[in-house]
Amino acid sequence: MPNSTPVAPQGFSSRLRLAISDVHTRAEKTTFIRGFLRGTATPSSYVRLLAALHPVYMTMEEETCRLAATDPVIARFHFRELFRTEAIERDLVFLAGPHWAGTIAPMSAAQAYVKRIKEIGATDPVRLVGHLYTRYLGDLSGGQILARIAERSLGVSKHAGLDFYDFPQVADIAAMKTLFRARLDELDGLPASATDAVIDEASRSFCHNIAIFESLDGNGFISFFRNLPLPGVRAPRREALSWASAAPAN
Ligand code: HEM
Repeated sequence: MPNSTPVAPQGFSSRLRLAISDVHTRAEKTTFIRGFLRGTATPSSYVRLLAALHPVYMTMEEETCRLAATDPVIARFHFRELFRTEAIERDLVFLAGPHWAGTIAPMSAAQAYVKRIKEIGATDPVRLVGHLYTRYLGDLSGGQILARIAERSLGVSKHAGLDFYDFPQVADIAAMKTLFRARLDELDGLPASATDAVIDEASRSFCHNIAIFESLDGNGFISFFRNLPLPGVRAPRREALSWASAAPAN
């Protein structure tokens, strides 16, 4: 009889988490995020980050509402309580004034991100799950760490520039993350082509975010292509991220 330890079958949420671990590390290591973690981000770079993310969330949320009406998969990820567009608008009005939209130049990295979301919304809607995952689970996870740092280093607070990271309609962040992951696990019922597409799209979504971070700091266009996963080429495996390989820490 073979003497092997049975391996617990991995749900889709765990596979996804592991699949994005390298690109998550790349996002964490961008100069902008490192500066943010060190508390050296400037209020103007924070405003530009919010302004870049505003059309991204708006598109993501419009597409979610539109598709959820007819697509049962997207309907499972239609969490109104996670929507960020209005929170970002409140922050921008507070930090940059009511005419913020006319004073901050659009960022090409954000425009490319928006274009991609619209494209997949029209052609391959299941991929939208990859975008929702990258942003919302990120906001509920590392985003909460970034919020605490921003509070100290930028002097922002709830109702005063920091609503983006505040989820007043989510009573229990850990429970929300557990629910989101449970919805991801339901995708195991879909064909492998669909789950592979979600994984691929989540990685792309990270690349778009990295391009935004680099644009706040350097050349986001080059960064986007540099970070795209090449078919058949695995990114060098760093030590498995403790957060990616461990059980969800909530
Ligand atoms: C310095 C910045 C960051 C830190 C310190 C950080 C930290 C973390 C931590 C500790 C977790 C695990 C939380 C848990 O298991 O409950 C996590 C998860 C996650 N982060 Fe980040 N993060 C950062 C940046 C980002 C960025 C820029 C994105 C995407 C734009 C992102 C997206 C995610 C996602 C999608 C997860 C969920 C992984 C999963 O459980 O499947 N993070 N992050």
